[in-house]
Amino acid sequence: ATDTATAVAHPNIALIKYWGKRDERLILPRTDSLSMTLDIFPTTTRVHLAPGADHDEVTLGGTPAEGEARRRIVTFLDLVRERSGVADRAVVDTENTVPTGAGLASSASGFAALAVAAAAAYGLDLEAIALSRLARRGSGSASRSLFGDFVVWHAGRETGTDEEADLSSYAEPVPTGPLDPALVVAVVNAGPKDVSSRAAMRRTVDTSPLYEPWALSSKGDLAEMRRALGRGDLEAVGEIAERNALGMHATMLAARPAVRYMSPASLTVLDSVLQLRRDGVAAYATMDAGPNVKVLCRAADADRVADTVRAAAQGGAVHIARPGPGARLLTE
Ligand code: DP6
Repeated sequence: ATDTATAVAHPNIALIKYWGKRDERLILPRTDSLSMTLDIFPTTTRVHLAPGADHDEVTLGGTPAEGEARRRIVTFLDLVRERSGVADRAVVDTENTVPTGAGLASSASGFAALAVAAAAAYGLDLEAIALSRLARRGSGSASRSLFGDFVVWHAGRETGTDEEADLSSYAEPVPTGPLDPALVVAVVNAGPKDVSSRAAMRRTVDTSPLYEPWALSSKGDLAEMRRALGRGDLEAVGEIAERNALGMHATMLAARPAVRYMSPASLTVLDSVLQLRRDGVAAYATMDAGPNVKVLCRAADADRVADTVRAAAQGGAVHIARPGPGARLLTE
C-alpha cells in the first residue's frame, strides 16, 4: 500500500444515452447506456493522503476548486474514507487536457481518474467493475470511462435493498465486430452557461411527458445497438445512436420549462451530417448536454467528415477521436 496514487482516464461519449436517475444519492440511472471511450483529452489525477490535515485540498489545473465542483469531490472522498476506514484528508490535483469550451464532459474522465487514484491511495483493492460502481457515485457517466472502446453501464435492479441496487449498477466492456470507427467532435460556439446536465435530467424526469416513452424506446435501442456492434455494422450503430440522442433532446424540449442545448450552429452541423449521408458518407450525429455535435463515422472518412463539419461549425474547432483506453493507475 502507498499513500499516493496517480491515475489517468479518458472521456466517453454515449451512443445510447444516460438521461434520468431513479436514485440521486446512489446515482442509479433509469436506463442502461452505452458509450465509446475516446483516445483524446485525458484527465490525470493525483491523490495524496494528508494525515493530520483538517480539510481536503483540491486543485483543478493548479487552481483551488470551489463551490459545487469542490463539494462533489469532497463528498466522493468521504465515500472512499467510509469504505476504507481511513479517515485522513487528502490533497487532490487534477489536470484536464480538454480545451475550454470543447464541451466534452470532463466529469466522466474526472471521476473515473479520481476513483482509481483515490481507491489506490486509500488502500481499497478493487477490480475494474467495482471501480466503475465507485466512479458512478461521482458522476454517472464516469462509470463507463473505467473501460476502453465500447462500454455498457447497467441500470441495475430496481427492487431490493440499496446495497443490492448499488451492486447491480456497473459498467463493463461490450464485444464488437470489426468497426474501425472515429468520432469527430465539432465544437460549436456556446452561448451563456447552460443548465447543468444534473439539473436538466432531473427536470426532464419530473416534468416531461416524453420522458417515459423515450426511456422505454431506449431499451429497444440498446438491444439493437448490441447486435449492430456485434456484427460491426457502423451504419446501424450510427442510425440507432442518432435517433436515441435526438429523442433524448426531444424529452428535454418537452420539459417544463424546456431545456434546449441545441443552438442554430448545432442545427447547421446536423444539416451537414445529413448532406454527408446524401453524398454517400456514413456519418451520424449525437449530442449531449451542450451545443456541440459529435459525428460517428469510419476512421477512413474522418478527415472528410471533419472538413465538412468544420465548415458548418462556423469557426469552431474540430477534433478527431478514435476508441481509447480504460482508466488506469500510473506507477510512480
Ligand atoms: C447527456 O454523468 O454528467 O452526457 O450523473 O448527474 O453527474 P451526473 O450526470 P452526467 O450526465 C451525462 C449525460 C449525458 C449522456 C451520457 O453521457 O450518457
